Amino acid sequence: MITRTVDLRSDTVTKPTEAMRAAMATAVVDDDVLHHDPTALCLETEMARITGKEAALFVPSGTMGNLISVLVHCDTRGSEVILGDNSHIHIYENGGISTIGGVHPRTVKNNQDGTMDIDLIEAAIRDPGGVLVYPTTRLICLENTHANSGGRCLSVEYVDKVGELAKKHGLKLHIDGARIFNASVALGIPVHRLVQAADSVSVCLSKGLGAPVGSVIVGSRSFIAKAKILRKTLGGGMRQVGILCAAALVAVQENVVKLEGDHKKAKILAEGLSQIKGIKVDVASVETNIIYFDIDESSKFTAEKLCEYLEEHGILVTQEGPLRIRIVLHHQISESDVQYTLSYFQHALSGVQDQNGI
Ligand SMILES: Cc1ncc(COP(=O)(O)O)c(C=O)c1O
Repeated sequence: MITRTVDLRSDTVTKPTEAMRAAMATAVVDDDVLHHDPTALCLETEMARITGKEAALFVPSGTMGNLISVLVHCDTRGSEVILGDNSHIHIYENGGISTIGGVHPRTVKNNQDGTMDIDLIEAAIRDPGGVLVYPTTRLICLENTHANSGGRCLSVEYVDKVGELAKKHGLKLHIDGARIFNASVALGIPVHRLVQAADSVSVCLSKGLGAPVGSVIVGSRSFIAKAKILRKTLGGGMRQVGILCAAALVAVQENVVKLEGDHKKAKILAEGLSQIKGIKVDVASVETNIIYFDIDESSKFTAEKLCEYLEEHGILVTQEGPLRIRIVLHHQISESDVQYTLSYFQHALSGVQDQNGI
Protein backbone atom coordinates (compact mmCIF):
# COMPACT_ATOMS: atom_id res chain seq x y z
CA MET A 1 0.00 0.00 0.00
CA ILE A 2 1.32 3.47 -0.91
CA THR A 3 1.63 5.60 2.19
CA ARG A 4 3.32 8.61 0.65
CA THR A 5 3.32 10.43 -2.69
CA VAL A 6 6.35 12.35 -3.93
CA ASP A 7 5.31 13.96 -7.20
CA LEU A 8 8.41 14.90 -9.16
CA ARG A 9 6.84 14.82 -12.65
CA SER A 10 6.90 18.60 -13.05
CA ASP A 11 6.69 21.90 -11.18
CA THR A 12 3.19 22.23 -12.66
CA VAL A 13 1.75 19.62 -10.27
CA THR A 14 1.63 21.79 -7.14
CA LYS A 15 -1.66 22.26 -5.31
CA PRO A 16 -2.82 25.77 -4.34
CA THR A 17 -1.76 26.68 -0.80
CA GLU A 18 -4.25 27.65 1.93
CA ALA A 19 -3.28 31.31 1.40
CA MET A 20 -4.03 31.01 -2.33
CA ARG A 21 -7.39 29.36 -1.69
CA ALA A 22 -8.28 32.08 0.83
CA ALA A 23 -7.28 34.83 -1.61
CA MET A 24 -9.38 33.19 -4.35
CA ALA A 25 -12.40 33.00 -2.06
CA THR A 26 -12.32 36.70 -1.25
CA ALA A 27 -11.01 38.13 -4.55
CA VAL A 28 -12.65 41.31 -5.80
CA VAL A 29 -13.65 40.59 -9.40
CA ASP A 30 -15.29 42.07 -12.46
CA ASP A 31 -15.79 41.07 -16.09
CA ASP A 32 -12.24 41.28 -17.48
CA VAL A 33 -13.47 41.26 -21.08
CA LEU A 34 -15.94 44.13 -20.67
CA HIS A 35 -13.88 46.12 -18.17
CA HIS A 36 -10.77 45.45 -16.23
CA ASP A 37 -11.03 42.95 -13.40
CA PRO A 38 -9.38 44.81 -10.46
CA THR A 39 -7.46 41.77 -9.22
CA ALA A 40 -6.22 40.99 -12.74
CA LEU A 41 -5.14 44.62 -13.07
CA CYS A 42 -3.31 44.37 -9.75
CA LEU A 43 -1.42 41.25 -10.89
CA GLU A 44 -0.61 42.75 -14.29
CA THR A 45 0.67 45.97 -12.72
CA GLU A 46 2.85 43.98 -10.33
CA MET A 47 4.26 41.78 -13.10
CA ALA A 48 5.02 44.82 -15.27
CA ARG A 49 6.88 46.32 -12.31
CA ILE A 50 8.88 43.16 -11.55
CA THR A 51 9.89 42.69 -15.19
CA GLY A 52 10.59 46.38 -15.81
CA LYS A 53 8.15 46.58 -18.75
CA GLU A 54 5.38 49.09 -19.47
CA ALA A 55 2.47 46.68 -19.35
CA ALA A 56 1.39 43.09 -18.75
CA LEU A 57 -1.47 40.77 -19.69
CA PHE A 58 -2.74 37.65 -17.90
CA VAL A 59 -3.18 34.69 -20.27
CA PRO A 60 -4.43 31.15 -19.58
CA SER A 61 -1.16 29.35 -20.34
CA GLY A 62 2.49 29.67 -21.29
CA THR A 63 1.70 28.21 -24.70
CA MET A 64 -0.85 30.94 -25.39
CA GLY A 65 1.56 33.56 -24.03
CA ASN A 66 4.27 32.50 -26.45
CA LEU A 67 1.85 32.20 -29.37
CA ILE A 68 0.37 35.65 -28.82
CA SER A 69 3.83 37.20 -28.42
CA VAL A 70 5.17 35.66 -31.63
CA LEU A 71 2.04 36.66 -33.55
CA VAL A 72 2.18 40.27 -32.35
CA HIS A 73 5.82 40.59 -33.45
CA CYS A 74 5.21 38.72 -36.72
CA ASP A 75 1.92 40.30 -37.82
CA THR A 76 2.83 40.33 -41.52
CA ARG A 77 2.46 37.17 -43.62
CA GLY A 78 5.78 35.68 -44.65
CA SER A 79 7.44 36.43 -41.29
CA GLU A 80 10.12 34.16 -39.91
CA VAL A 81 11.23 33.57 -36.32
CA ILE A 82 14.66 32.30 -35.29
CA LEU A 83 14.44 29.89 -32.35
CA GLY A 84 16.25 26.97 -30.75
CA ASP A 85 15.80 23.51 -32.28
CA ASN A 86 15.30 22.19 -28.73
CA SER A 87 13.05 25.03 -27.54
CA HIS A 88 9.63 24.58 -25.98
CA ILE A 89 7.98 26.77 -28.63
CA HIS A 90 9.44 24.65 -31.42
CA ILE A 91 8.87 21.22 -29.92
CA TYR A 92 5.92 21.25 -27.56
CA GLU A 93 3.51 23.95 -28.70
CA ASN A 94 1.81 22.08 -31.57
CA GLY A 95 3.62 24.19 -34.15
CA GLY A 96 1.00 26.86 -33.33
CA ILE A 97 3.15 29.72 -34.61
CA SER A 98 2.90 28.21 -38.09
CA THR A 99 -0.43 26.37 -38.01
CA ILE A 100 -2.32 29.28 -36.45
CA GLY A 101 -0.06 32.25 -37.12
CA GLY A 102 1.46 31.45 -40.51
CA VAL A 103 4.90 32.22 -39.07
CA HIS A 104 7.83 30.27 -40.47
CA PRO A 105 10.23 28.80 -37.86
CA ARG A 106 13.96 28.90 -38.58
CA THR A 107 15.75 26.73 -36.08
CA VAL A 108 19.28 27.16 -34.80
CA LYS A 109 20.98 24.39 -32.85
CA ASN A 110 20.61 24.70 -29.08
CA ASN A 111 23.84 24.02 -27.23
CA GLN A 112 23.75 21.84 -24.13
CA ASP A 113 23.46 24.95 -21.96
CA GLY A 114 20.38 26.21 -23.82
CA THR A 115 22.19 28.95 -25.74
CA MET A 116 22.41 29.25 -29.52
CA ASP A 117 25.75 30.43 -30.91
CA ILE A 118 25.48 34.14 -31.69
CA ASP A 119 27.21 33.71 -35.06
CA LEU A 120 24.75 30.96 -35.99
CA ILE A 121 21.82 33.20 -35.06
CA GLU A 122 23.30 35.98 -37.20
CA ALA A 123 23.87 33.59 -40.09
CA ALA A 124 20.20 32.52 -39.89
CA ILE A 125 18.92 36.09 -40.36
CA ARG A 126 17.57 36.40 -43.91
CA ASP A 127 19.17 38.82 -46.32
CA PRO A 128 16.48 41.50 -46.91
CA GLY A 129 17.83 41.70 -50.49
CA GLY A 130 16.41 38.22 -51.12
CA VAL A 131 12.84 39.17 -50.24
CA LEU A 132 11.60 37.73 -53.54
CA VAL A 133 12.38 34.22 -52.32
CA TYR A 134 13.02 34.40 -48.57
CA PRO A 135 10.61 34.82 -45.67
CA THR A 136 11.39 37.98 -43.67
CA THR A 137 13.16 37.51 -40.31
CA ARG A 138 11.28 39.51 -37.69
CA LEU A 139 11.93 37.86 -34.34
CA ILE A 140 14.44 35.91 -32.24
CA CYS A 141 13.18 33.74 -29.36
CA LEU A 142 15.20 32.64 -26.34
CA GLU A 143 14.12 30.39 -23.45
CA ASN A 144 15.28 31.08 -19.88
CA THR A 145 15.62 28.79 -18.04
CA HIS A 146 15.98 26.32 -20.89
CA ALA A 147 13.75 23.38 -19.99
CA ASN A 148 15.03 20.67 -22.33
CA SER A 149 18.62 21.49 -21.38
CA GLY A 150 17.78 20.65 -17.76
CA GLY A 151 16.66 24.09 -16.58
CA ARG A 152 19.97 25.78 -17.37
CA CYS A 153 20.16 29.56 -17.11
CA LEU A 154 21.04 31.96 -19.91
CA SER A 155 23.33 34.61 -18.45
CA VAL A 156 22.42 38.28 -18.58
CA GLU A 157 25.52 38.90 -20.74
CA TYR A 158 24.31 36.34 -23.28
CA VAL A 159 20.75 37.72 -23.36
CA ASP A 160 22.14 41.25 -23.80
CA LYS A 161 24.31 40.10 -26.71
CA VAL A 162 21.34 38.53 -28.47
CA GLY A 163 19.40 41.75 -27.78
CA GLU A 164 22.16 43.80 -29.42
CA LEU A 165 22.16 41.49 -32.42
CA ALA A 166 18.38 41.80 -32.74
CA LYS A 167 18.63 45.61 -32.60
CA LYS A 168 21.42 45.68 -35.17
CA HIS A 169 19.17 43.85 -37.64
CA GLY A 170 15.91 45.59 -36.73
CA LEU A 171 14.46 42.44 -35.14
CA LYS A 172 12.43 41.90 -31.97
CA LEU A 173 13.49 39.64 -29.10
CA HIS A 174 11.00 37.47 -27.20
CA ILE A 175 11.95 35.44 -24.14
CA ASP A 176 10.00 32.34 -23.17
CA GLY A 177 10.50 32.99 -19.48
CA ALA A 178 8.28 30.20 -18.22
CA ARG A 179 10.88 29.79 -15.45
CA ILE A 180 12.49 33.25 -15.52
CA PHE A 181 12.18 33.55 -11.72
CA ASN A 182 14.23 30.33 -11.36
CA ALA A 183 16.88 31.86 -13.62
CA SER A 184 16.82 35.14 -11.71
CA VAL A 185 17.24 33.42 -8.33
CA ALA A 186 19.96 31.04 -9.57
CA LEU A 187 21.95 33.83 -11.24
CA GLY A 188 21.33 36.40 -8.51
CA ILE A 189 20.14 38.91 -11.14
CA PRO A 190 16.78 40.70 -10.77
CA VAL A 191 14.16 39.64 -13.33
CA HIS A 192 13.90 43.16 -14.80
CA ARG A 193 17.64 43.20 -15.53
CA LEU A 194 17.64 39.68 -16.96
CA VAL A 195 14.94 40.58 -19.49
CA GLN A 196 16.02 44.17 -20.15
CA ALA A 197 17.00 43.41 -23.74
CA ALA A 198 13.71 41.68 -24.55
CA ASP A 199 10.74 43.29 -26.29
CA SER A 200 8.42 40.74 -24.71
CA VAL A 201 8.54 38.00 -22.11
CA SER A 202 6.10 35.23 -21.28
CA VAL A 203 6.25 34.25 -17.58
CA CYS A 204 4.51 31.16 -16.16
CA LEU A 205 2.84 31.56 -12.79
CA SER A 206 1.82 27.91 -12.57
CA LYS A 207 5.30 26.35 -12.67
CA GLY A 208 7.91 27.03 -9.97
CA LEU A 209 5.77 29.81 -8.48
CA GLY A 210 3.00 27.33 -7.76
CA ALA A 211 -0.11 29.23 -8.86
CA PRO A 212 -2.87 26.90 -10.06
CA VAL A 213 -3.35 28.49 -13.50
CA GLY A 214 -1.90 31.10 -15.78
CA SER A 215 0.93 33.05 -17.33
CA VAL A 216 1.60 36.71 -17.93
CA ILE A 217 3.10 38.36 -20.98
CA VAL A 218 4.89 41.66 -20.62
CA GLY A 219 6.11 44.31 -23.03
CA SER A 220 5.43 47.82 -24.25
CA ARG A 221 1.94 49.35 -23.98
CA SER A 222 1.40 49.01 -27.72
CA PHE A 223 2.57 45.36 -27.66
CA ILE A 224 0.10 44.56 -24.87
CA ALA A 225 -2.75 46.42 -26.64
CA LYS A 226 -2.26 44.18 -29.70
CA ALA A 227 -1.78 41.11 -27.48
CA LYS A 228 -5.14 41.76 -25.82
CA ILE A 229 -6.94 41.59 -29.17
CA LEU A 230 -5.16 38.35 -30.08
CA ARG A 231 -5.93 36.87 -26.66
CA LYS A 232 -9.64 37.45 -27.37
CA THR A 233 -9.29 35.94 -30.87
CA LEU A 234 -7.76 32.79 -29.40
CA GLY A 235 -10.52 32.44 -26.80
CA GLY A 236 -8.31 33.54 -23.94
CA GLY A 237 -10.45 36.51 -22.87
CA MET A 238 -11.81 35.37 -19.52
CA ARG A 239 -14.49 36.96 -17.39
CA GLN A 240 -14.07 37.01 -13.56
CA VAL A 241 -10.44 36.02 -13.97
CA GLY A 242 -9.49 37.79 -10.74
CA ILE A 243 -10.25 34.47 -9.00
CA LEU A 244 -7.16 33.03 -10.72
CA CYS A 245 -5.10 36.21 -10.50
CA ALA A 246 -5.64 36.36 -6.72
CA ALA A 247 -3.89 33.00 -6.34
CA ALA A 248 -1.16 34.12 -8.73
CA LEU A 249 -0.55 37.26 -6.67
CA VAL A 250 -0.01 35.10 -3.58
CA ALA A 251 2.36 32.92 -5.62
CA VAL A 252 4.43 35.94 -6.66
CA GLN A 253 4.48 37.37 -3.13
CA GLU A 254 5.18 34.14 -1.22
CA ASN A 255 6.85 31.62 -3.47
CA VAL A 256 9.75 33.38 -5.20
CA VAL A 257 11.74 33.04 -1.97
CA LYS A 258 11.18 29.27 -2.02
CA LEU A 259 12.92 28.77 -5.37
CA GLU A 260 16.40 28.81 -3.87
CA GLY A 261 15.38 25.89 -1.64
CA ASP A 262 14.03 24.00 -4.68
CA HIS A 263 17.37 24.46 -6.44
CA LYS A 264 19.26 23.23 -3.36
CA LYS A 265 17.05 20.16 -3.11
CA ALA A 266 17.57 19.46 -6.83
CA LYS A 267 21.32 19.60 -6.25
CA ILE A 268 21.12 17.24 -3.26
CA LEU A 269 18.99 14.81 -5.27
CA ALA A 270 21.34 14.98 -8.27
CA GLU A 271 24.39 14.46 -6.03
CA GLY A 272 22.68 11.52 -4.36
CA LEU A 273 21.79 9.99 -7.72
CA SER A 274 25.36 10.44 -8.95
CA GLN A 275 26.53 8.19 -6.07
CA ILE A 276 24.29 5.35 -7.21
CA LYS A 277 25.86 2.75 -9.48
CA GLY A 278 23.96 2.49 -12.75
CA ILE A 279 22.91 6.16 -12.94
CA LYS A 280 24.69 8.81 -15.01
CA VAL A 281 23.93 12.39 -14.07
CA ASP A 282 25.83 15.59 -14.75
CA VAL A 283 25.52 17.26 -11.34
CA ALA A 284 27.20 20.47 -12.51
CA SER A 285 24.49 21.02 -15.12
CA VAL A 286 21.76 21.08 -12.45
CA GLU A 287 21.49 24.85 -12.03
CA THR A 288 17.83 25.17 -11.04
CA ASN A 289 14.96 22.74 -10.36
CA ILE A 290 15.22 20.24 -13.24
CA ILE A 291 17.31 17.04 -13.33
CA TYR A 292 17.80 14.80 -16.35
CA PHE A 293 19.66 11.55 -15.90
CA ASP A 294 20.40 8.34 -17.77
CA ILE A 295 20.38 4.74 -16.69
CA ASP A 296 23.42 2.65 -17.63
CA GLU A 297 22.79 0.32 -20.54
CA SER A 298 24.21 -2.50 -18.41
CA SER A 299 21.56 -1.93 -15.73
CA LYS A 300 18.74 -4.45 -15.29
CA PHE A 301 16.35 -1.51 -15.47
CA THR A 302 14.94 0.40 -18.39
CA ALA A 303 13.51 3.86 -17.66
CA GLU A 304 10.01 2.41 -18.01
CA LYS A 305 10.66 -0.34 -15.46
CA LEU A 306 12.35 2.03 -13.03
CA CYS A 307 9.45 4.51 -13.31
CA GLU A 308 7.01 1.66 -12.59
CA TYR A 309 9.03 0.54 -9.57
CA LEU A 310 9.17 4.07 -8.18
CA GLU A 311 5.46 4.61 -8.78
CA GLU A 312 4.70 1.51 -6.74
CA HIS A 313 6.35 3.39 -3.88
CA GLY A 314 4.50 6.64 -4.55
CA ILE A 315 7.39 8.37 -6.36
CA LEU A 316 6.31 9.91 -9.65
CA VAL A 317 8.93 10.89 -12.26
CA THR A 318 8.81 11.37 -16.05
CA GLN A 319 10.23 8.92 -18.54
CA GLU A 320 12.01 10.86 -21.29
CA GLY A 321 13.43 7.99 -23.34
CA PRO A 322 14.27 4.28 -23.10
CA LEU A 323 17.01 5.06 -20.57
CA ARG A 324 16.29 8.67 -19.69
CA ILE A 325 14.27 10.14 -16.80
CA ARG A 326 13.36 13.69 -15.77
CA ILE A 327 12.75 14.93 -12.26
CA VAL A 328 11.49 18.41 -11.38
CA LEU A 329 11.57 19.94 -7.88
CA HIS A 330 8.98 22.36 -6.54
CA HIS A 331 8.01 23.95 -3.24
CA GLN A 332 5.83 21.04 -2.16
CA ILE A 333 8.77 18.64 -2.10
CA SER A 334 10.49 18.49 1.29
CA GLU A 335 14.04 17.50 2.19
CA SER A 336 12.64 14.30 3.64
CA ASP A 337 10.87 13.59 0.29
CA VAL A 338 14.27 13.93 -1.38
CA GLN A 339 15.84 11.40 1.02
CA TYR A 340 12.85 9.05 0.63
CA THR A 341 13.23 9.23 -3.17
CA LEU A 342 16.97 8.60 -3.02
CA SER A 343 16.45 5.59 -0.79
CA TYR A 344 14.15 3.95 -3.35
CA PHE A 345 16.54 4.66 -6.22
CA GLN A 346 19.30 3.13 -4.12
CA HIS A 347 17.13 0.16 -3.28
CA ALA A 348 16.12 -0.41 -6.92
CA LEU A 349 19.58 -0.18 -8.40
CA SER A 350 21.57 -1.84 -5.65
CA GLY A 351 20.21 -5.20 -6.75
CA VAL A 352 18.36 -5.89 -3.53
CA GLN A 353 15.15 -7.59 -4.55
CA ASP A 354 11.91 -6.46 -3.02
CA GLN A 355 8.84 -8.64 -2.56
CA ASN A 356 7.85 -8.10 -6.22
CA GLY A 357 11.13 -9.60 -7.31
CA ILE A 358 12.27 -6.39 -9.02
C1 LIG B 1 9.87 26.47 -21.16
C2 LIG B 1 8.39 26.37 -21.27
N1 LIG B 1 7.73 27.25 -22.01
C3 LIG B 1 6.39 27.22 -22.14
C4 LIG B 1 5.65 26.24 -21.52
C5 LIG B 1 4.16 26.18 -21.75
O1 LIG B 1 3.42 26.43 -20.62
P1 LIG B 1 1.91 25.87 -20.47
O2 LIG B 1 2.03 24.45 -20.10
O3 LIG B 1 1.33 26.74 -19.41
O4 LIG B 1 1.24 26.07 -21.79
C6 LIG B 1 6.30 25.28 -20.74
C7 LIG B 1 5.52 24.20 -20.06
O5 LIG B 1 6.03 23.27 -19.51
C8 LIG B 1 7.71 25.33 -20.61
O6 LIG B 1 8.39 24.43 -19.89
